[in-house]
Amino acid sequence: MATSISTAAALLFFFLLATIATATHNITHILAPFPEYSVYSHYLSLTKVADEINSRETVTILILPNAAISALANKRPLAAVKNALRLLTILDYYDAAKLHKISDGTVLTSTLFQTTGNAAGNLGFVNITNLRGGKVGFGSSSPGSKLDTTYTKSVKQIPFSISVLEVSAPILFPGLLDVPTKDSANITGLLYKAGCKTFADLIVSSGVLKMYTEAMDTGLTVFAPSDMAFDADGVPNISTLSEAELVTLLQYHAVPHYIPKSSLQLTQGKITTLATNAAGNYTLSVGSIGNDVSLRTSLDTSRVASTVLDDTPLCILTIDSVLLPAELFGVPPAAAPAPASEASVPELAPEPSLASPPSILESPADAPDVIADSMAKNSSPAIAGKWLFSIFSVIVAMIAGMML
Ligand SMILES: *[C@@H]1O[C@H](CO)[C@@H](O)[C@H](O)[C@H]1NC(C)=O
Ligand SMILES: *[C@@H]1O[C@H](CO)[C@@H](O)[C@H](O)[C@H]1NC(C)=O
Ligand SMILES: *[C@@H]1O[C@H](CO)[C@@H](O)[C@H](O)[C@H]1NC(C)=O
Ligand SMILES: *[C@@H]1O[C@H](CO)[C@@H](O)[C@H](O)[C@H]1NC(C)=O
Ligand SMILES: *[C@@H]1O[C@H](CO)[C@@H](O)[C@H](O)[C@H]1NC(C)=O
Repeated sequence: MATSISTAAALLFFFLLATIATATHNITHILAPFPEYSVYSHYLSLTKVADEINSRETVTILILPNAAISALANKRPLAAVKNALRLLTILDYYDAAKLHKISDGTVLTSTLFQTTGNAAGNLGFVNITNLRGGKVGFGSSSPGSKLDTTYTKSVKQIPFSISVLEVSAPILFPGLLDVPTKDSANITGLLYKAGCKTFADLIVSSGVLKMYTEAMDTGLTVFAPSDMAFDADGVPNISTLSEAELVTLLQYHAVPHYIPKSSLQLTQGKITTLATNAAGNYTLSVGSIGNDVSLRTSLDTSRVASTVLDDTPLCILTIDSVLLPAELFGVPPAAAPAPASEASVPELAPEPSLASPPSILESPADAPDVIADSMAKNSSPAIAGKWLFSIFSVIVAMIAGMML
């Protein structure tokens, strides 16, 4: 009897934990019942703006019907579409009632675009104005902009968390859609400018740039160490490596998927690299705390610093240490304990849903670490409140279970 109650309580406990851990919204899922927005949803997924939306606590998405988003995306690079989608994602909650109650008639509100670092000044803000006759207009905050985008209808709300509203047209400002793309950009030139000259020269001289180019079409993310990283203590002298070893080392600095930094933040566990083959795993462990993403090999840890190029399906990020694979540079002393926040997460399969958090039900023993990690990632007061409430609910449920 006592055993079955405690078993039931434990099951309930883990069930609730699993529910809490995944209790964020999923914009793809929300839009699935609306075929009139399937193109918009498709572009949210393709550009990974969906991941950015899903990781936000409070968000309003202004969406366009299929014809309007198709017209915007037609013949434009995905990077340009990504900018437009980010400017249409407001970092606050607005439903129809709140739109019509904007005090003083006008408000400036921040968007995902403002968080990218591409936004000069306040270009990532959007002007919402309550116009005469019950109309609500949206426009860029850039000087001289008109309120050319109007609210058409409400699509879906989860109160105070996520709101989806249909609007008539994209919000634009001059330059929003002008982006460097992998076709127009000089990648070595961009790497030079980002302080990664050593890495740029190595990928050219070794021929690895050509391997990167071949892998680009199906998705590629490159981690480029800064010049200072190559000079750091403990980094082997690169010129003593054989040609094959150098190629492997450089392949180890790229993964065969498009994973911008915002999606890496949602990735936990091991990812494979271009160096991964039958002879060696050559994996990287990804962990993140807040906006900081770290990549761990069994020999060292590196931090993701900045984005050099984000043009779906190619992403180039800078990192602050050279990634040293144990397969090339030897095995570390046995069982060096890993940092708690990244410990023991299950290995991810290479292709499917890199963004989905590992199920904690698979390994209950690991649950506390995963929880600590996700609490650290979501340390906003709202989330803390949800946690306290959930933990309280569990305790009440357990007490109720014992009284039966
Ligand atoms: C979001 O929902 C879509 C459609 O229902 C599903 O395919 C996808 O796996 C979900 N993503 C996550 C991270 O749960
Ligand atoms: C928003 O745009 C309107 C029309 O251009 C302008 O009159 C208003 O001052 C703007 N509001 C803010 C807060 O910038
Ligand atoms: C790319 O940039 C590098 C470094 O600035 C320069 O040496 C090279 O000539 C450029 N290549 C092209 C095709 O412009
Ligand atoms: C690295 O190795 C090369 C060739 O063996 C040597 O010429 C060079 O001085 C070494 N560099 C350092 C910093 O030790
Ligand atoms: C690759 O990873 C697997 C599972 O983690 C491990 O058992 C195996 O020894 C690794 N192989 C190499 C060559 O490191």
